[in-house]
Amino acid sequence: MEIVILESPAEVGRVAAALVGKVVTDRPDAVLGLATGSSPLGIYRSLAARVAEGELDFSRASGFALDEYVGIPLTHPESYAAVIARDVIEPLGLDPARVRVPDGRADDLEAAAVEYDGAIRTAGGVDIQILGIGANGHIGFNEPTSSFASRTRIKTLAPSTREANARFFDDPAQVPTHCLTQGLGTILEAKRVVLVAQGAAKAHAIAAAVEGPLSAMCPGSALQLHEHATIVVDEEAAAELALAEYYRYTYAHKPEWQRFD
Ligand code: GLP
Repeated sequence: MEIVILESPAEVGRVAAALVGKVVTDRPDAVLGLATGSSPLGIYRSLAARVAEGELDFSRASGFALDEYVGIPLTHPESYAAVIARDVIEPLGLDPARVRVPDGRADDLEAAAVEYDGAIRTAGGVDIQILGIGANGHIGFNEPTSSFASRTRIKTLAPSTREANARFFDDPAQVPTHCLTQGLGTILEAKRVVLVAQGAAKAHAIAAAVEGPLSAMCPGSALQLHEHATIVVDEEAAAELALAEYYRYTYAHKPEWQRFD
């Protein structure tokens, strides 16, 4: 894994966005793996600024969101379909017809999950998957004890995840209990992964994901199995990394051609 520790949350967004931007510059019809949550907002802001400058063009790219709540109306502002439209499709100038979000309203949720997983493969796979991480180590909505081999499926949200996401709803009781999420096995098939985390609340999850044992109790640790996973964190989220100095040294001494910022 490549661990990049930066001064500020803004730097995290800028550097992770540079990695995404490089993929889209090299391949304008790239398939993007899109995450919701507050963590990747800096990436989308930085990319949107570069689009506005005419440096990047996402009009030929396509995207697959990681997850969606079950049963939430599409028009609800916190449905991930609405979040992806607002935070990603519009500011980046993606073609809405080329961006998919799992269908949490499907009559047959299991069939919808299988179809979604297959559609990612049919599209040729994800070129770069953007990820945040939950304080309990989840990626997408793969809660602790998710199988490393899991595919897109229905999951029950952990109570701590529902509490964390209650801030987005008027009433905590409105937070859905279930979701559709890409599986860890699905995520691991992306050609590149960039995970971002900011703030002290993520320090434990980052240390467990990067330096802990491979464990279903920390779904983010599955990324240790990925050949091209980059973890971009600010100082606060890096606070529990035992080898932080080594990561700083490694990143500072990377040859120019290997840098992406
Ligand atoms: C959410 C999402 C994840 C996200 C995580 C952390 O509920 N399903 O994709 O990475 O929890 O959220 P945040 O970035 O807001 O801290």
